[in-house]
Amino acid sequence: MQPPWWQTGVVYQIYPRSFADTRGNGVGDLPGVEAHLDHLAWLGVDAIWLSPIYRSPMADFGYDVADYRDVDPLFGDLDDLDRLLEQLHDRGMRLILDWVPNHTSDQHPWFVESRSARTSAKRDWYVWRDPAPDGGPPNNWVDAFTGAPAWTWDETTRQYYLHLFLPQQPDLNWSNPEVAAAMQDVLVYWLDRGVDGFRADVVHLIGKDDDLADDPPDRVGQHHAAFQNNEVTHAYLRDLRTMLDGYPGERMMVGEVNLDSTEAVATYYGHGDELHLAFNFALLHTPWDAEAWRASIERIDAAYAPRRAWPTWVLSNHDQPRHRSRYGSLRRARAAAVALLTLRGTPFLFQGEELGLADAEVPPERRVDPGGRDGARAPIPWTPDAPHGWAGAEPWLPWPPAVGAHNAATQRSQSASTAQLYRHLLARRRASPALRHGAMTWLDTPPGVLGYRRSDGDDERVVLVNFADETATFDLPGWCVEVDSLLPAATGAAFGGALAPEQGLLLARA
Ligand code: NOJ
Repeated sequence: MQPPWWQTGVVYQIYPRSFADTRGNGVGDLPGVEAHLDHLAWLGVDAIWLSPIYRSPMADFGYDVADYRDVDPLFGDLDDLDRLLEQLHDRGMRLILDWVPNHTSDQHPWFVESRSARTSAKRDWYVWRDPAPDGGPPNNWVDAFTGAPAWTWDETTRQYYLHLFLPQQPDLNWSNPEVAAAMQDVLVYWLDRGVDGFRADVVHLIGKDDDLADDPPDRVGQHHAAFQNNEVTHAYLRDLRTMLDGYPGERMMVGEVNLDSTEAVATYYGHGDELHLAFNFALLHTPWDAEAWRASIERIDAAYAPRRAWPTWVLSNHDQPRHRSRYGSLRRARAAAVALLTLRGTPFLFQGEELGLADAEVPPERRVDPGGRDGARAPIPWTPDAPHGWAGAEPWLPWPPAVGAHNAATQRSQSASTAQLYRHLLARRRASPALRHGAMTWLDTPPGVLGYRRSDGDDERVVLVNFADETATFDLPGWCVEVDSLLPAATGAAFGGALAPEQGLLLARA
């Protein structure tokens, strides 16, 4: 049986505010995504994940949803979304939408009703509590952005409400079956419109202990969202999985389980009956070091294998500095891409990593994100000259550095570019069963070199990534270069046993 698309494909994350503006207001929109489908097809990705496009006051740039069933006018309308979906499907690509189940906007009609009176029919849709005996917040939890209490006092009804993120993002109460049903209806609404799946935002947070006990002393002051891991969430996920699997077509859910324990992340796959995929951010937090990478990957394998859980790999997203900026060099970022696209599991790319983008320098007066994440969210430059393929107005965030070289048109026209590297890797991956779903075994490489073999029957590949800043040697007769992170278009040469500093190679049998 062929594995499902979410195991063999590559997913490309679009952060719509920053992708492409067609209307001249400095903010990206859905027609902007549609205008650049050629780029995604050229690159060869299988699916796109669209960060939230729903109606929102944008306190957290869309992760504060005021209407789960409509597109925010800033991005377009439902017709734009339906058209985009159709065009993606026509090109054989899938669409997954962000779904934000843990919290709504404080402007969502559910919350407006909930906060109107203690007797409101929706009071229990959110987490309301009386003050502690001293009049302060009900417990010691702090929010994920500011480190302030995760509770806000409501003067009208004289209780606190819980928000693990901003005060404008009140947490839903999933222990109320009406909430679970309403949120499931949201999924059904989009499934009926034809979407292929969902990326479930901080889905590990939806289940909460009824007693909302204080965090232990060693966790005081740490964002509660980073370690809440409650058994009841698994039951909610099993219900969602049953619904999704009962739907025609291959629909899926990838959950953001933003826990620092890989072992804990693995439990969110259940026994094949919870999430289809869970993000694992271990590599994103692993420094540029071959041994550390191997340890992270081995740890994930060890945790996932008993559950037959399929790994995911992420180096960049809209919440973290880009990996090029973290590693401090494009050369490293390119070598890392060779691993990202050849490890056993589903890779998730973040828009612009294929252009070799670094984070933008955002001067204090232009900073807008309460979580300090503006740099990675800089607009995508499509052309070398201003306004870089955008409709004209100054974008909501400054451009990333070196747009003259790091823009889509220039990158696509140069054979040694980062975009060409990604394209070659994606093409090789598509053509190789070993890379798409084969087994992986480690090679006994010298220190500083990460090396593994992927195989499926007769199809075999070897990947070598030299993390060191000096040449490494590894004797491997009978193999030739399929993709070289330094010269992606030059293929077919026999591998002579030398790896340049910070070079990544994909090798095939000669
Ligand atoms: C995770 C999202 O990726 C992030 O951007 C957002 O701020 C939080 N969840 C809250 O929704």
